[in-house]
Amino acid sequence: MADEAVNDAAKVRVDLGVRSYDILIAPGLIGEAGRHIAPLLARPKVAVITDENVAGLHLDSLRAGLAREGIGMEALALPPGEGTKNWPHLERAVEWLLSAEVERTDLVIAFGGGVIGDLAGFAAAVLRRGVRFAQIPTTLLAQVDSSVGGKTGINSPHGKNLIGAFHQPALVLADTAVLDTLAARDFLSGYGEVVKYGLLGDADFFAWLEENAPAMAAGDQALRVEAVRRSCAMKAGIVARDEREQGERALLNLGHTFGHALEAATGYGDRLLHGEGVAIGAALALELSSRLGLCAQEDPSRLRQHLREMRMKADLSDIEGELPDADGLIALMMQDKKVRDGRIRFVLARGIGAAFVADDVPMKAVRALLADALAMRCA
Ligand code: GLY
Repeated sequence: MADEAVNDAAKVRVDLGVRSYDILIAPGLIGEAGRHIAPLLARPKVAVITDENVAGLHLDSLRAGLAREGIGMEALALPPGEGTKNWPHLERAVEWLLSAEVERTDLVIAFGGGVIGDLAGFAAAVLRRGVRFAQIPTTLLAQVDSSVGGKTGINSPHGKNLIGAFHQPALVLADTAVLDTLAARDFLSGYGEVVKYGLLGDADFFAWLEENAPAMAAGDQALRVEAVRRSCAMKAGIVARDEREQGERALLNLGHTFGHALEAATGYGDRLLHGEGVAIGAALALELSSRLGLCAQEDPSRLRQHLREMRMKADLSDIEGELPDADGLIALMMQDKKVRDGRIRFVLARGIGAAFVADDVPMKAVRALLADALAMRCA
């Protein structure tokens, strides 16, 4: 993996042999999309899958950025939201790509947040047995996580992301200026995934975030580029070493075992956004690690203090409305796709920046942790 600046954009390389690709990070990349995409094209046209919100805000800029290099564009705008990540919308996307006469050597562009990236990537993976695609992520969460690493797919009534394929993009263009159009809460939800990288493998990055994240959230572009670059560099390294999640890639699930249960308990909606669940889940994972004697008591407190400074949810007491009891939350964790032989897989930490995967966590400790955290809600 190589990190460097290319024509003023920061660049992170995902090293996967013939499937290697670059992640370019800079404000204004959408307007220059044609220059970066042209070398990938067999003919000067692309098919763009986006959502109605992103189309309204940014599609004209993308069209102009492509036209500058003589690249034509057709676009399909799907409804925004997690509900789109299903079979009917996948069918609509694939049939649209076929009617747009996308050929095997053409390029599909996924232009949006995680939902669009996952769905369009999966559509490209199955279209004509696999067409290349580029990710142009428009949320912080998608820029630092879902657009990188090739996980694509849709949800099933049986659970999230249960249908899909590994299909690596050919290019990722992360335009940090589009993050200005995100609601503050959506930006901060994506920040839950940024802070995860510091916690799981880079204590210096966590310290850097403690110092710089408030200014980054307030809009500093250079800090945004650096936060996205460092997050992508860490993810690229992990994906290059463990593309199919046979080992190390599972570290990226830090905070997700608790977080997914909380998202399920709150209905996958506005009560708790994905990155908010990840942030609370990461704090619970550190708390559990400290109770098990693996890390210092100060580590979960330090994380919670940082989350509160960022005006983020940090604990179960920050979630409004009813929650299941500890056993109810554990039952939701048991539905997680990371459960093996009835054992829940946790990502714990020996300190900030030192996470590891644990399959043998005593459920008594998990139950006590959740019961105490739930009791704080009533106190
Ligand atoms: N979002 C977790 C992964 O890509 O593995």
